[in-house]
Amino acid sequence: MTQDALKKAVAQSAVEHTLERIDADSIVGIGTGSTANFFIDLLAAHRGKFAGTVASSEASAQRLKEHGIPVYDLNAVNEVVVYVDGADETNPRLELIKGGGAALTREKIVAAVAKEFICIADDSKWVDHLGTFPLPVEVIPMARSHVGREIVKLGGDPVYRQGVVTDNGNVIIDIHHLHPIGSARALEEKLNNIVGVVTNGLFALRPADVLLLGTPDGVKTLRAEG
Ligand code: 5RP
Repeated sequence: MTQDALKKAVAQSAVEHTLERIDADSIVGIGTGSTANFFIDLLAAHRGKFAGTVASSEASAQRLKEHGIPVYDLNAVNEVVVYVDGADETNPRLELIKGGGAALTREKIVAAVAKEFICIADDSKWVDHLGTFPLPVEVIPMARSHVGREIVKLGGDPVYRQGVVTDNGNVIIDIHHLHPIGSARALEEKLNNIVGVVTNGLFALRPADVLLLGTPDGVKTLRAEG
């Protein structure tokens, strides 16, 4: 099976999970990236069954609108029933690295609001310990050098993602050589405490609730281990 076939399979499974949780008034949170794009395209067939969506990026909002699916400002909705998004890495605790597509801040906000966070990923994203994938950090532009120096003090190797500006007008620093991350929660907090950091791509303080993992043997439904 190709990686795209695995992504499509988990997206289809996420549509089925979503349909079990929504009614005509529901708002669905929508992630960003190629796996989330499969989810958007498959969800479009059911667009009359829920009130609308909130999106974690301008790109996803655009794709939703092209399907005729309403997109709301998060401030205009009372509740997000479920948030469906991909990941760059997941461990057995369903702690994630996200932000390969630079959408980490809005992703983290929608995940924080959602009652349930369903992560969809092919099995290339499954790891015992996070940190092989460079950890994205969204940074206020004037703080880029300062944040880089602080990351070095934490033992990371910061690399400025050239030419990328986030939907919030900020820049991305990717932290290399963190593997294996011991306590993802502790590192998430330390990075958040650096002045000039907007968000980092560790989703450990708010991990996924459910992981739909695409494997050649089918889609596995996993919940966080201890
Ligand atoms: C975007 C993300 C994506 O969820 C992550 O990069 C996975 O992307 P893909 O589904 O294309 O593999 O965090 O910021």
